[in-house]
Amino acid sequence: MTADAAKTAPSDLAYVPFVSVENMMRLVHHVGIETFLEELASHIEADFKRWPEFDKSPRVASHVPGGVIELMPTADNALYGFKYVNGHPKNTRTGHQTVTAFGVLSEVATGYPVLLTEMTVLTALRTAATSALVARHLAPKDASVMAMIGCGAQCEFQAMAFRALCGINRLRLYDLDPKAVEKASRNLTAQGFEVTRCGSGQEAVEGAQVITTCTADKQYATILTDNMVGAGQHINAIGGDCPGKTELHRDILLRAEIFVEYPEQTRIEGEIQALDPDHPVTELWQVMRGETPGRRDAKQITLFDSVGFAIEDFSALRYVRDKVQGTSFAEPLDMLADPDDPRDLFGMLTRSAG
Ligand SMILES: NC(=O)c1ccc[n+]([C@@H]2O[C@H](COP(=O)([O-])OP(=O)(O)OC[C@H]3O[C@@H](n4cnc5c(N)ncnc54)[C@H](O)[C@@H]3O)[C@@H](O)[C@H]2O)c1
Repeated sequence: MTADAAKTAPSDLAYVPFVSVENMMRLVHHVGIETFLEELASHIEADFKRWPEFDKSPRVASHVPGGVIELMPTADNALYGFKYVNGHPKNTRTGHQTVTAFGVLSEVATGYPVLLTEMTVLTALRTAATSALVARHLAPKDASVMAMIGCGAQCEFQAMAFRALCGINRLRLYDLDPKAVEKASRNLTAQGFEVTRCGSGQEAVEGAQVITTCTADKQYATILTDNMVGAGQHINAIGGDCPGKTELHRDILLRAEIFVEYPEQTRIEGEIQALDPDHPVTELWQVMRGETPGRRDAKQITLFDSVGFAIEDFSALRYVRDKVQGTSFAEPLDMLADPDDPRDLFGMLTRSAG
């Protein structure tokens, strides 16, 4: 390197560890997907248990034609994280995914990022890890069969997490699109699941102790009607996560004990947008701390009204940061301008000419 080149070469402070999609997939295989889900769930649980330490707000949602684009920030005393994520239910018709995401973790002390990572794969993993972690507190203890309505991108991740954390190995799959059922069935059979393909949602829920709804539709949808849900079932409702985008008939909500991540966000985005603003809900962090019971009896219908909250992404970012530090899973990205004299940004620019 010439002396001039050395002058303009990035310093160590300029580099931010970057995890590409390829490296995220390598990392998941290196760790093992079920171990990854278990470790991620432990990080999420640890952060839920220290809930009051976090700076929290409902995510910032920009509703755009065809979907939503959201920013999800949160911070504790040491780290700040945010995720960029979209939700476009019609995207698959043009070969795009419904949900894509990336995220950043930064040091609070300096504001400097310490990680930039893909989060499309990571969001599917963290959503599944959260669902299964919650089900450990809410699902019947002997649950062995799960109905899955909606067999798109999230479906297999949910199944993997429920097996890793709750021991559920028997699945009943239904989707409006038979090709989606075929795809999920192929993938999950290859993972050793016992899979039944069903011709309707009604058929899928028969004999299931857990029902996962994982569909994507922008209008108020009714994936589950009241007659489909019986005593003792646990509902893991993933797909209702935007104003006007819900999956359950209101009567189910009136019979169920409802558990949520962050009520201020869930009342805007979750199934409970159909209820009065003061309808009682239980916050999951209190269940995880043992301050409030989860499932109380065998007959209770429990509902996890999942919308996805920033702290779950923060936990995922923290987990990935720890895993990739000093490994080839992260590449140094020249992302932060770092002049020798911190106040001479302009000098750095002019010296780089020619
Ligand atoms: N709660 C969370 O934290 C969280 C996180 C990620 C994604 N999501 C949501 O989960 C949902 C699924 O995401 P995805 O990436 O798998 O989407 P996707 O588009 O890949 O799959 C959705 C599937 O739902 C099916 N479907 C639509 N309407 C249906 C109906 N009425 N009955 C049966 N099947 C129906 C579609 O055919 C499709 O196969 C989306 O709504 C997404 O916004 C929630």
